[in-house]
Amino acid sequence: MKVLLIGATGNLGLRLVAALLTHNHSITAFVRSSAKLSSLLPASIYSHLEVIQGVATDSASIKKAILDSNCDAVVNTAGLAALPPWGRSDLPAIFRAVVEAVREAGVERERPLRAWFLAGLGVLYFPGSEKMLSDYVPIYLEHRQNLQLLKSLPQDSVDWSMLCPSTMTPESSDVTVPTKTSQGKLVANAATPPAWQDSWIKHIPLIGKTILCAMNAGRYETTLEQNAEFIASDLESLESRWSGTTVGVIDGSK
Ligand SMILES: NC(=O)c1ccc[n+]([C@@H]2O[C@H](COP(=O)([O-])OP(=O)(O)OC[C@H]3O[C@@H](n4cnc5c(N)ncnc54)[C@H](OP(=O)(O)O)[C@@H]3O)[C@@H](O)[C@H]2O)c1
Repeated sequence: MKVLLIGATGNLGLRLVAALLTHNHSITAFVRSSAKLSSLLPASIYSHLEVIQGVATDSASIKKAILDSNCDAVVNTAGLAALPPWGRSDLPAIFRAVVEAVREAGVERERPLRAWFLAGLGVLYFPGSEKMLSDYVPIYLEHRQNLQLLKSLPQDSVDWSMLCPSTMTPESSDVTVPTKTSQGKLVANAATPPAWQDSWIKHIPLIGKTILCAMNAGRYETTLEQNAEFIASDLESLESRWSGTTVGVIDGSK
């Protein structure tokens, strides 16, 4: 598939370059600085990319990149959510611009484009309830407004999925194709975290569910490489079981 990768210079973006090439996708990398991207990648990998310079808040440039490069799918890893509940980053503005570009490109193509977005564990639902984990642990709240935007889109205008990992750590600083990984594949679940460990603790008034979220949180640590592999492998087909949903992931081998 032809993929527009926005934010290729980031932690996850670099691993996605390797994972997408390993899965035989073609990549158009949309980055603020092509010099930075070329300094972060081996020349043998950089030479396989089409690179477009631009800012990810510029919807028109992103739409042009999608159409000019004839992309079938978009992966957005640009922008980093602010951690404290009062924090502000440029992620919501980037997110709006990318969603708008993907939607408009789909209108011109006369079919919705496939798109993967990133969020965090907090936008998944607390199992058995209609509240999100971030209702109990209010951090990285900007992801909530991004999800709201996706859910407010007219049906069939964007074929979106939102990956919601907890902390992602690097397995290696080397970017290689094919990717070398010692970790297993992720186990995924739509809308709620997979393999959640329940406990009577949740019934403690006021603080029970917050304590249970904190107890579970560490179990959802995964690697950047595992998440990149998950997206690259999903994009092997235009049909995805993750269309229109948030996706929680856990390292099943742990
Ligand atoms: N890392 C984690 O543990 C973790 C966990 C859960 C969710 N997430 C989410 O996953 C996503 C990727 O995380 P990450 O760790 O890969 O982030 P990162 O390393 O900080 O990378 C962010 C990327 O966004 C780009 N960017 C920022 N502002 C931009 C703009 N205005 N125009 C174009 N590009 C822009 C940066 O480009 P430059 O190189 O030019 O600065 C960089 O490539 C984020 O949305 C984050 O909130 C991360």
